[in-house]
Amino acid sequence: MEIKRVGVVGCGQMGGGIVQVCAQSGYAVLVSEINDNLLKKGLAAIESSLDKGVQKERITKRDRDAAFGRIRGTTNINDFADCDLIIEAAVENLDLKKQIFSQIDKVCQKNAIFATNTSCLPVSEIASVTTRRDRVLGMHFFNPVPAMKLLEIIRTKATSDVTISTARKFGESLGKTIVIIRDTPGFIVNRLMVPQILNAIRMVEAGTATKEDIDTGMTLGLNQPIGPLALADLIGLDTVLAIANGIHDIIKEKQYVPPPLLKNMVADRHLGRKTGRGFYEYK
Ligand SMILES: NC(=O)c1ccc[n+]([C@@H]2O[C@H](COP(=O)([O-])OP(=O)(O)OC[C@H]3O[C@@H](n4cnc5c(N)ncnc54)[C@H](O)[C@@H]3O)[C@@H](O)[C@H]2O)c1
Repeated sequence: MEIKRVGVVGCGQMGGGIVQVCAQSGYAVLVSEINDNLLKKGLAAIESSLDKGVQKERITKRDRDAAFGRIRGTTNINDFADCDLIIEAAVENLDLKKQIFSQIDKVCQKNAIFATNTSCLPVSEIASVTTRRDRVLGMHFFNPVPAMKLLEIIRTKATSDVTISTARKFGESLGKTIVIIRDTPGFIVNRLMVPQILNAIRMVEAGTATKEDIDTGMTLGLNQPIGPLALADLIGLDTVLAIANGIHDIIKEKQYVPPPLLKNMVADRHLGRKTGRGFYEYK
């Protein structure tokens, strides 16, 4: 099956990034949000990211205009009817994702493939509300999507070989390197990354070292591009909390129990870069 038209549900950090790379790779993209204000905000963020690409001479003005011209926005899920692939990038909440998949299943053509960008939730459970479990998979992009090379493809017991090969071809057309993993909590990267972030937060809580020194330790000591606390701010502390809870709910290992400091910061809306304050402050 050839993918021509892509639908993206949610125009936040990840949805916006996915829309941008799809449009830059030549696909017609339709993106949905829950209201006009959020849609405008999401489209403006994509435009500004493309503009930065022009300023930094990564893309030409002509390519920027062509990419932005391929993007349309909507607040009506019925508009996804003629999309070949729908990528869901709404917030990390299982009930919401199931509700979205049930809606798009009713609206979309029967051959359309559905992917969730979930960070850790069971893809098979999301797929279970559809009438096309063989055409549902996880496509887990990384943040920021235009810069990060990896795409995890998550295969459930029901996902067909054709769906996997179509998703692989599509991911490669976006310039991504594909890894494939069975439907397991946190997949490859989050399963290994979340304990590191939670342990760094526990060290801040215990006063073992300053946040700056923890991050410097991990960047210079392990050659990581940013430290675990700066990474948590980039991901969004609400998302980190949701991922930790999501993995812990299933595998019940102590290392995934979110520390109180993380829960308190989320309750105070100190969510990281997206709210201007997390472990660090952002202008
Ligand atoms: N932040 C990361 O680093 C990261 C990385 C990989 C995967 N993810 C996953 O991607 C998904 C989105 O995360 P994010 O960081 O972009 O969150 P975000 O909060 O920045 O964006 C989510 C967007 O979804 C919108 N939304 C909610 N319900 C919707 C609906 N019914 N229809 C359309 N839009 C809807 C919200 O209004 C919001 O703008 C989550 O599942 C998350 O776990 C996040």
